[in-house]
Amino acid sequence: MAAPLTEFAPGPILISAGAIRRRTARLAREISARYRRRDLVLLGILNGSLFFLADLARHLSVPFRLECWRLRSYVGKTTRSSGAVHGIGTAPGDFRGADVLLVDDILDTGITLAAARARLLALGARSVRICVLVRKRRRRARPARAHWVGFDIGDEFVVGFGLDYDGRFRGLPDIRALRPAIPRTRRRASKTDPGLKPTKTRKSRTSR
Ligand code: IMP
Ligand code: MG
Repeated sequence: MAAPLTEFAPGPILISAGAIRRRTARLAREISARYRRRDLVLLGILNGSLFFLADLARHLSVPFRLECWRLRSYVGKTTRSSGAVHGIGTAPGDFRGADVLLVDDILDTGITLAAARARLLALGARSVRICVLVRKRRRRARPARAHWVGFDIGDEFVVGFGLDYDGRFRGLPDIRALRPAIPRTRRRASKTDPGLKPTKTRKSRTSR
């Protein structure tokens, strides 16, 4: 039997590239309306928000300053947060008096976004709101409310459109569930495996 290259691989599509495109354009319209008379600072959390940030930014109809902040809480081959947010001490720039919109790929435990928001407020930001492409339905380890949400999903590990597993799969055009890798010889049989069926997602209502 051929050994799998990795222990995990992208599974079924949960959110298609088209759905992401349409939802991003809509979020940008709502965000533009909210920041019409503000000096918006768009602050992307890298690496995961890279593609979402770029698409969202290009759809905004209000002026903004763009900054990026490299934060990490998942280290190595894991689907669990380490609990520590690496990089939180080095905010990229001066945020005194700024209306900041934090943009991230996913809201999971809330540890990253809660820490980032608290840090920006401590640095003198006037307001800090949060926009995420995906929000997991689960209990948060830290209170973090997303003001704009692309999609709600169940509590499962996903990859694609910027989301990674150990640095891989970020370039997939859609968002997929991560599944145990299937050795080549068993791939045919897996087509009927009920464990590989897509789970349900729904468009999120935004709350402000
Ligand atoms: P937190 O657990 O809310 O702090 O999530 C912080 C970061 O963990 C996100 O910005 C992602 O980079 C990563 N993350 C959380 N859940 C997933 C997932 O399902 N797939 C890939 N990355 C994830
Ligand atoms: Mg990330």
